[in-house]
Amino acid sequence: MPKAIPYGRQEITQDDLDAVATALQHDFLTQGPQIAEFEKNFAQYVGAKHAVAVNNGTTALHLAYLTLDCGPGDTIITTPITFAATANAALYCGAQVEMADIDPTTGLIDLDQVESMLKITPRGKYKVLSPVDLAGLPVDMERCRQLADEYNLGLIEDACHAPGGSFIDSMGATRKCGDSSLADMTIFSFHPVKHIACGEGGMVTTNDDAMAKRLRLLRSHGITKDNMQEDHGSWYYEMQELGYNYRITDIQCALGNSQLKRADAGILRRREIAQRYTQAFAETAVSPLRQPKNFDNAYHLFVVLLKNRKEVYDHLRANNIFAQVHYIPLNLLPYFQTLGFAKGDFPNAELYYSQCLSLPMFPSLTNEEQDFVIAKVLEVAQ
Ligand SMILES: Cc1ncc(COP(=O)(O)O)c(C=O)c1O
Repeated sequence: MPKAIPYGRQEITQDDLDAVATALQHDFLTQGPQIAEFEKNFAQYVGAKHAVAVNNGTTALHLAYLTLDCGPGDTIITTPITFAATANAALYCGAQVEMADIDPTTGLIDLDQVESMLKITPRGKYKVLSPVDLAGLPVDMERCRQLADEYNLGLIEDACHAPGGSFIDSMGATRKCGDSSLADMTIFSFHPVKHIACGEGGMVTTNDDAMAKRLRLLRSHGITKDNMQEDHGSWYYEMQELGYNYRITDIQCALGNSQLKRADAGILRRREIAQRYTQAFAETAVSPLRQPKNFDNAYHLFVVLLKNRKEVYDHLRANNIFAQVHYIPLNLLPYFQTLGFAKGDFPNAELYYSQCLSLPMFPSLTNEEQDFVIAKVLEVAQ
């Protein structure tokens, strides 16, 4: 049996190991210098003014919704084709979740449908729009910004799949995922299957000083030492609002800092792999997701649509290839059904789900391994 090939895999080099070992010998295992360094490096990488590191992408989302004062009585709009966390984090705040269907050729939220929802609903009901850069393909954030401005919405881009992605806007300017030139805040995850592995980890980027300040406050209990006065001892701190312990450690950030140095090389390799898949599947029964012009995919995943997805999935597993399905539409999950969602709510998302399969996509995938995957897919795809 050939070596197992997963759909995604982290790469840990000697430099990563050395960086973590050095962090472990430092006086501060958490709240130390690696965190600020990771924030500075990541902000520079995506082109944002601020980056606030937290312990995972879900808490990044939670803090982003809280920073926009999302709470009971508010409703957010997201897509059914995402990881549950995009919606769950709004539910943690007591807000309600609604969804717009997707474009089944890209898997991304259908912004025409979002606009229709906004048009027919009394203003004030919807508070936040949370699009997702599914598989690494950036959402049209220019259009999202227009909608957010017109309907007075907060805008949180879930770019967990897309560090390194970008698109060219209507004026010809490059907009990088996470530069937050269009979103109020952009959020990222550093789970090992993502581009940059910290074990667990997350980031919120923003260009807004007040939002960055609030995010920092909320990630550490709502406590600050900023209000120190002359007659205070240096122990003095204030808890200004109810926050959380969503801090990341220096050990994780040391790994993140080391991994970030290879981020560009990783994107190039992912794009090479995507091109090889695309060429191999041309004129076959295997349909890669559509790649719109002017949008540069960061290729967290390589998703294909297949009429006989289950058969292909089983055949790959039998050959030790562990493809995956991203995602089961949120409206089909039992918990979301207790909230009133039902099968049939989002026909495009459900069609997409019946056909999608994420093939192995990670920088250390070799050409030989990829050729084996391609051959096994083509043996049974119809
Ligand atoms: C689109 C999306 N949003 C949010 C998350 C949550 O990130 P984390 O697992 O770091 O909490 C994930 C993780 O899988 C994701 O894929």
